[in-house]
Amino acid sequence: MRLQGKVVGITGGGLGIGRACALAYAAEGAVVAVTDLDPALAAGVAEEITGAGGRAGSWALDVTDRAAIPGVLDAIVADLGPLDVWHNNAGVSTMRPFLDLTEVDWDVNMDVNAKGVFNCSQVVARHLIAAGRGGKIINTASMAARTGKAPFLAHYVASKYAVVGLTQAMAAELAPHRITVNSICPGFVVTSMQEREAQWEGELRGLTADEVRRLYVEATPLGRLETPEDVAAVAVFLASAASDFMTGVAVDVNGGAWMG
Ligand SMILES: NC(=O)c1ccc[n+]([C@@H]2O[C@H](COP(=O)([O-])OP(=O)(O)OC[C@H]3O[C@@H](n4cnc5c(N)ncnc54)[C@H](O)[C@@H]3O)[C@@H](O)[C@H]2O)c1
Repeated sequence: MRLQGKVVGITGGGLGIGRACALAYAAEGAVVAVTDLDPALAAGVAEEITGAGGRAGSWALDVTDRAAIPGVLDAIVADLGPLDVWHNNAGVSTMRPFLDLTEVDWDVNMDVNAKGVFNCSQVVARHLIAAGRGGKIINTASMAARTGKAPFLAHYVASKYAVVGLTQAMAAELAPHRITVNSICPGFVVTSMQEREAQWEGELRGLTADEVRRLYVEATPLGRLETPEDVAAVAVFLASAASDFMTGVAVDVNGGAWMG
């Protein structure tokens, strides 16, 4: 049990990658604060954890609602105890050719994916510093933070490069407080986000969603789509003591689809 006795909070924990990470943290012995924009999804994952004999709670948390975040964090700490790990995972995407991108596309992607990480990390870092026990912050970035060659995703690419840059800057500033900050860059992961993107990309390229998914597999040397559990396994490593001397790193988990 690599996370026995640790308290881990996660955003966007109700579905997809966030859900898999929440379950994996709990399976390693962590007490998990599952948060999501959709409280019913968060509650469902917390119930999965408690149903399996683990300890978890759920909270509604919109990462763009900067004013609400301190109150949610206080409630989590009051219920589960001081945090050891915080995982900024919530993210959204839309798809459009660059020339057709709207201000709404830009703002929504930047607000959730980039500013959401800033909003939560600042509150969490203040809490970790006050508790004086160090800690770990993990950010879900993307392969779209490693290469801009991601069709119809210019705004999403910008938001995810921001996450990797912010990860490094926070890692440097928070290191004296024994807080590490790392990001994970998944590839083509089977989630509801991918379901939407395969549909949109198909419409934009005159392909079916299945044909788009085949292209994702062809672009992946390991020859299959990525699962949320592939990402969760690496998240557990970044949450555990095994990664204590890593900070400011962006870890690629993409089956070889992008190699730096
Ligand atoms: N699916 C992929 O292929 C892929 C690849 C690379 C990176 N990512 C990133 O992984 C993360 C999770 O993606 P996913 O594929 O599991 O997506 P998903 O859409 O399946 O799940 C996202 C979750 O985030 C929640 N959410 C959305 N907006 C929120 C907000 N403002 N505040 C709090 N929660 C919010 C949703 O309710 C949902 O539960 C995202 O940051 C995404 O950008 C996904």
